[in-house]
Amino acid sequence: MDGVTPELAGTDQASQRPPTRTHGVEPRGLRNQPLSPAFGGRFGRLFRRLAPAPSYEVDRLNGLAETMREDASQGGGSWGQPNAQPPGGDNDAIPAGYTYLGQFIDHDITFDPASLLGRINDPDALQDFRTPRFDLDSLYGSGPADEPFQYDQERPGRLLVASTESGEDDLPRNIQQVALIGDPRNDENTIVSGLQRVFLRFHNRMWQEVEADATVQPETRFDETQRRVRWHYQWVVVHDYLKRTCGADVLARKLLEPDGRAAEIKLRWYRARKNAYMPVEFSAAAFRFGHSQVRAAYNLNSSITNIPLFVAGDEVAPTSDLRGGKALPGGWQLDWPHFLPIGAAETVQPSRLIDSRLTPALFDLPRLPVDKPQSLALRNLLRGQALQLPSGQDVARHLRVERVFSGGELGTDLDPTPLWFYILKESELVTGGARLGPVGAEIVCEVLLGLLELDPQSYFRVQPDWRPTVLAADADAGLTLGDLVQFALS
Ligand code: HEM
Repeated sequence: MDGVTPELAGTDQASQRPPTRTHGVEPRGLRNQPLSPAFGGRFGRLFRRLAPAPSYEVDRLNGLAETMREDASQGGGSWGQPNAQPPGGDNDAIPAGYTYLGQFIDHDITFDPASLLGRINDPDALQDFRTPRFDLDSLYGSGPADEPFQYDQERPGRLLVASTESGEDDLPRNIQQVALIGDPRNDENTIVSGLQRVFLRFHNRMWQEVEADATVQPETRFDETQRRVRWHYQWVVVHDYLKRTCGADVLARKLLEPDGRAAEIKLRWYRARKNAYMPVEFSAAAFRFGHSQVRAAYNLNSSITNIPLFVAGDEVAPTSDLRGGKALPGGWQLDWPHFLPIGAAETVQPSRLIDSRLTPALFDLPRLPVDKPQSLALRNLLRGQALQLPSGQDVARHLRVERVFSGGELGTDLDPTPLWFYILKESELVTGGARLGPVGAEIVCEVLLGLLELDPQSYFRVQPDWRPTVLAADADAGLTLGDLVQFALS
């Protein structure tokens, strides 16, 4: 077992200072939150003792990336058209909405806009532009005092929800259609921006409950609403998302929840001396598994169907694909039973399998900054290399998983194998792509639970026997994302 303390991560004394006052007003909801000067966190390494994987030429990495492109000639028929889905490859165990919960979680806890793809970067010197905590800074930004444009000025304490010409919810936007939200990446595509809209509504709906609660003093309503929103979200991340993605068995090994007693988290690898940090093995490899879950096209509701994720080109008509950065086209409101198991099961679209295949649109990303390449698969492999991640085989041996796959078994001549690819292929070989395999599940589960454990404001630290107050449709299954969505929109 490693359990190495990342010496340099999370030791910033300045990050423990009391909250700053802006023009004499303390930003509400941030009381007692450890703040760093840049409202973010640190990157670090989970497996400090493991050597970096060998560095491969870009051409060889691109060769591997290209093997991951879903085959446009497969199955004939309409596949090969931008909005077609190849036969097979659907994951009936994970509805499509969870793909975008994954993207939403990623945007809450990690943002590395600074490391360079083409050269080696030291994670200890890198700033995570998001706090590595489930605090929804991607929703709240730095609070109503600092970022008032995100908040409803007529209804204090509420987040601003905009309306399209046809009266549907949209994200608030500036005159150039840039979303005015805590993390601009939550308008990267129409589905993740739909989830952001739900969370805006969720906060406002929870505000109503808090307002009606006589035990809450008016001046603490905002803090109390944030706390309830965050804790419900944290609960869903653990008990719904992690369970589906990593498997109930992996979760149960790390999260002990004896009946009627406070829960306990058992971590094996993720330790931090003081503050949480963002492990690069997670941000640059393991949690990027979600890229393989993305479908080529989605039904938004029963009228707007089969819209491709992205078509080629930077300037395209607003209704031609699901890219974000535009006012929501009329009729494009997401009908959540098409994304989550709410009500009639037949409308739910599945995510794609967690495997080594990516939808072709992800090889031609629109509106990327000038730092090419546009292939997400190649970017992931380059990013892993630039951050000197250990190989998949070294990590697998280190975690002592039952089976360590060679490059040959994974179908690549890159042996040792880049960690991101290893994790995807391992999922395919061990679980048939229904959920993460042993290496991927261990890292994802460990880090997400670790962030909860290290956050002094999480339900787990403040009140480990806390239970959600929003009702679950299925009491045995417990609270799910679908329940949150229904409550938010009620
Ligand atoms: C349509 C869907 C998605 C698109 C277009 C997309 C696109 C991207 C892009 C362009 C990057 C930056 C790549 C780089 O330069 O290193 C990125 C990073 C990342 N993505 Fe995605 N992504 C999507 C969905 C997801 C999902 C579903 C997950 C997880 C479940 C995910 C997890 C991540 C993570 C962890 C990072 C690194 C974030 C950081 O630390 O900066 N993404 N994604």
